[in-house]
Amino acid sequence: MGMVVHAPRRRLTRTALAERFSSRFGRPPAHVVRAPGRVNLIGDHTDYNDGFVLPIAIDRATWVAAAPRADRRLHLLSEQMSGEDIEVDPAVDGGGPRGHWSDYPRGVACVLRAASYPIGGADLLVASDVPVGGGLSSSAALEVATALALLACAGTRVEPATLARLCQQAEHDFAGTPCGIMDQLAVVAARAGHAMLLDCRSLAIRHVPLPETADVVVCDSGVRHALADGAYARCREDCAEAARMLGVTALRDVTAAHLDAELDRLPPPLWRRARHVVSENARVLELVEALARDDLERAGRVMTASHASLRDDFAVSGPEIDRLVVLAAAVPGVHGSRLTGGGFGGCTVSLAAPDAAVLLAERVGTASVFRCTPAAGAQVT
Ligand code: GLA
Repeated sequence: MGMVVHAPRRRLTRTALAERFSSRFGRPPAHVVRAPGRVNLIGDHTDYNDGFVLPIAIDRATWVAAAPRADRRLHLLSEQMSGEDIEVDPAVDGGGPRGHWSDYPRGVACVLRAASYPIGGADLLVASDVPVGGGLSSSAALEVATALALLACAGTRVEPATLARLCQQAEHDFAGTPCGIMDQLAVVAARAGHAMLLDCRSLAIRHVPLPETADVVVCDSGVRHALADGAYARCREDCAEAARMLGVTALRDVTAAHLDAELDRLPPPLWRRARHVVSENARVLELVEALARDDLERAGRVMTASHASLRDDFAVSGPEIDRLVVLAAAVPGVHGSRLTGGGFGGCTVSLAAPDAAVLLAERVGTASVFRCTPAAGAQVT
C-alpha cells in the first residue's frame, strides 16, 4: 500500500548549511557536500540486467555538512526528518537494515571502513530537497553525499565508479534493496546540461547533450512504495531466472528474435519481464539517437512506448502513475511521458516544449509538478 507524502521545497546553499551546522554543533563544518537526485529519462529495470540507462542528475540535492570527531561515532542531524538527531557507532551498531534513514549513512561508514578507507567519526548535518522515496534517488544522493563527506574528512578520494559501487553495496547490505548501479553512478558522474548514457555492463559513460528546447518535467504522484519491501527484489529474481532459462549471463545478451523463439519455454510473466528488458535496451539507444537529431517528437514516442512496456510487460506501474501519463499525453507541447525509477508509485518524467510544464501542472491537479535542469554530479563544495 502506498502513502501520500509531499516534500517541501527548501532553498539550500553552502553558506546556509555551514551556518546551521555551526549553530547546531558549535564549530564550523570542515566540508559541505552536495549530491543531486536523478531522474531517469529511459532505461528502467535494465541496469541490473547489464543493459543501458539514460538518467540526468536534477537540480534538487541532498547536502551534508561535516566535521571530524575525535571518536569513531557518527552524530547525525537531519533537517528533513523533523530535525531528528541521532548518534550511531558503526563499529558497535553493526550491519543490517533497521528501516530508519540512518541506515544509509551508517551503511556507508561501515562499507568504507570494511574496504579499509580511514574513516573516523564525524558530526553530520543532512538537508535535502529531493522528495523521499519518490523514484528520484533520494537514497543514492544521501549515500553519495555521506560517503564524499566522510572521505573528505579522512583526506581521501575515491574514483567515481568505485565510489558508486561502495554506495550501492551500502544500499544492498544496510537498506535491504538489491539495486543496480544506475542511481549511484548518475549521482556521482552526471554532467550539467547532459543526460548520461551508461552501459551498465562495462560502466562506460557517454554524456549526451539535451536539446535546449527540451524541458524535462517531473510529476510526483505522491504515492510511495518502499522498494525494500520485496517487490523490487522480485523483479531482479525474475530477470535472473529468465536469463538462466535462456542460457545467457544477463538479459542484455538476449535479442528480440531469440526471445520470440523461446516463447513456449518461459512462463508468460517471466517472458514478459524479459521482453521489457530487451525492448527497453533498444529504446534507450533510440532515444539517444532521437535527441542527437533534435527529433523531440520521436523521443517522446519512445518514452511513451517505454511506459507501456513497464506497465504491460514489466508490471511495475500503478493507477496513479498511469493516470499521470494519460493526462500528460493530452497536454499540448508534451512529447511523451513515462514512469521513472523502480515503480510502484513515485514519479513520471515527461519531455516537453518550454512552458508546457505550466499547462501540465494545471491538468494533473494534485500531483506536484516541476521542471528539472540537468545538473552536475556530486561535489565537495
Ligand atoms: C531503482 C534502483 C535502480 C534501478 C531502478 C529501475 O531506482 O535503485 O538501480 O534498477 O530502480 O530502473
